[in-house]
Amino acid sequence: SAAEKQGYDWFMRKEIYEQPQAVADTLLGRYNEDGSLKLDELHIPEAELRTIDKIIIVACGTAYYAGMVAKYAIEHWTRIACEVEIASEFRYRDPIITPRTLVVTLSQSGETADTLMAIRHAREQGAKVIAICNTNGATIPRESDAVIYTHAGPEIGVASTKGFLTQVAACYLLGLYLAQVRGTKFGDEIAAIMGELAATPPLIQRVLDEIEPIKQLAAKYAEQKSVLFLGRHVGYPVALEGALKLKEIAYLHAEGFPAGELKHGPIALVENQIPIFVVVPPQGRDQLHDKVTSNIQEVRARGAFTIVLAEDDDEEVIPYADFLFRLPKVSTLMQPLVATVPLQMFACELASLKGYDVDQPRNLAKSVTVE
Ligand code: G6P
Repeated sequence: SAAEKQGYDWFMRKEIYEQPQAVADTLLGRYNEDGSLKLDELHIPEAELRTIDKIIIVACGTAYYAGMVAKYAIEHWTRIACEVEIASEFRYRDPIITPRTLVVTLSQSGETADTLMAIRHAREQGAKVIAICNTNGATIPRESDAVIYTHAGPEIGVASTKGFLTQVAACYLLGLYLAQVRGTKFGDEIAAIMGELAATPPLIQRVLDEIEPIKQLAAKYAEQKSVLFLGRHVGYPVALEGALKLKEIAYLHAEGFPAGELKHGPIALVENQIPIFVVVPPQGRDQLHDKVTSNIQEVRARGAFTIVLAEDDDEEVIPYADFLFRLPKVSTLMQPLVATVPLQMFACELASLKGYDVDQPRNLAKSVTVE
């Protein structure tokens, strides 16, 4: 009803705006004042968590992309090999699972059949399963060994938004906790990363406060047939998620690519005036920022209209950005929490302008309870 939407035209838009609070709520009560992690709900003995030698994240849709983001952080912090797999593929390929395998499953609804079947299979093979879920008492958390609830509040829009951000945040909590238990990060390092994570809600709010130009941009693309998204490292799953939003609600052909792969194929798609979103990594010690900046140049030289998401003081991208959206300065691993937001809003606005039902897109269900 209109009252439930609290003045917003769509639940999806309302949920996009709820993200600062949703992420804050996911973090709430899960770390101590000294920055150490406190995941009381994880009823798996620490000794057992120390024996884990592989993590497999299984999920569908947006949750799968959240898992792709999480892989970068979890491997970096814990040094445990982490695979991410589409839940519907998992059990059909005879995956290697032992009692030392930790399966992490992400599901907003907790009722996705493909995901449920994947964790049942994992547990039959002796793996421990931790669910990251937004719905209290749903089937997936009930059938898991432990659950971390995301506390995002109900998500009504079929296209997941706050589900994604809170899943990333919850995965980061879990990754940091594993690093703490296993001693792969020292206390002060964990406190520093936890500090960065805890600082993101106001930065997400800032992105929302500055979102207006993204809405205006969407108005340009009512007739657009195809949109591309590029990113690297954690910006790659962000690109995939941006493309998924456009497919789901704006019925546009959209694809996300790892920017480094451009030259191996996707660049052939670049034609005059095709919009290409580029998630630019923070300027830093590694070379990813400069490589992605070159990619922007390359696609622009071939006629693309470049929509660049880059951090505040990044001046190098300016000459190659046909449209520039500023992101708050954060570390690479935190960037998905701010960079995804304009992509969500672009899709929401475009679908809305096209007159589509943003909250209930054709052919899709919020929770798919059949395999
Ligand atoms: C459906 C929804 C997607 C969602 C996916 C996984 O396909 O339309 O928006 O990402 O399921 O849902 P889950 O509830 O398991 O996160």
